[in-house]
Amino acid sequence: MNEKRIGILGAMPEEIHGIVSLLKDKKEVVKGMRTYYTGTINDVEVVVVFSRWGKVASATTVTHLIVEFKITQLIFTGVAGAISRDLNIGDVIIASSLVQHDMDARPIMDRFEIPLLGKTMLFPPKDLLDNAMDCIGKLVADKSLIHLLSLKQQEVFSLYEQKVVVGQIASGDQFFSSNLQKENLLAALSDVLCVEMEGAAVAQVCFEYDVPYVVIRTISDIANEDSVVDFKEFVSQVASKFGVEIIRKLVK
Ligand code: ADE
Repeated sequence: MNEKRIGILGAMPEEIHGIVSLLKDKKEVVKGMRTYYTGTINDVEVVVVFSRWGKVASATTVTHLIVEFKITQLIFTGVAGAISRDLNIGDVIIASSLVQHDMDARPIMDRFEIPLLGKTMLFPPKDLLDNAMDCIGKLVADKSLIHLLSLKQQEVFSLYEQKVVVGQIASGDQFFSSNLQKENLLAALSDVLCVEMEGAAVAQVCFEYDVPYVVIRTISDIANEDSVVDFKEFVSQVASKFGVEIIRKLVK
C-alpha cells in the first residue's frame, strides 16, 4: 500500500497561494509551465499546483500529479458560477456528480457522453465526499469561513449567511456571463448547481487512473451579466482565504 500523498489543485494562483504558505518543508518543481509545490500539511504529504484555466490545462496537470508525483488522492478547490437560483456568492458546493457540459459527439453518441467511457456523469467516491461534507459543514455552521472576512468585505459580498450544498457540477471551456447561457444549460441539464471550467475533466482523469478525488467550489458569481466583476473581486479578496481554511480542515 502506498503512503498517502494528496494532490491539491486549483485553476488559478489566487486559489492556491494561501495553501502553499501552509506547507512545511516546501520544495518547488517546475515542469510543463506549472510549478508543483511539495511539502506537508498536518503531517500529510501534499503536492500543490494551479493548473491554469480549462479542461485541457487541468487534465494535463492532474495527469502529471498522478504519474510523476504518485498522488493517492486529489482535492480540487476553487470558485464557480452559480446556476441554481438557490445559491448565493460565498456558498460552498461539493460535487456529488460532474458532467462536461460542452461534450457533444452527437449523433454518434448521446449528448454529454464521454467517448469510449460510456458515461455522462462521474461520481466522486463516497468516503471523500462524506469527509468533505463533514469538515466543510462544520466550518460553515460555526461561521469560521465568513469570520475570515472583514466586516467591509462581508458587506461588499452580502456574505452574512453561507450554505454548503452537495450536488451536480458542470464543467466546460466557457466562462458564463449571461442569463441566456444559464438558461440554455439548465434546459439541457436541469440538476446543475454551478458551472466552472475544470472539475469534470479532473474527474475523468482520476476515474481513468482510479485515484479518489473530491471537487469543492465556492460561488464567486452568479454566472450572469455581473459575473466578470463579481468573479474578479471574489477571487482577489476571498478565494484564497476560504481555500486555506478548507484545506487545513480536510487534509488529515
Ligand atoms: N468559474 C467561476 N465563475 C465562473 C463562470 N461564471 N463561468 C465559468 N466558470 C466560472
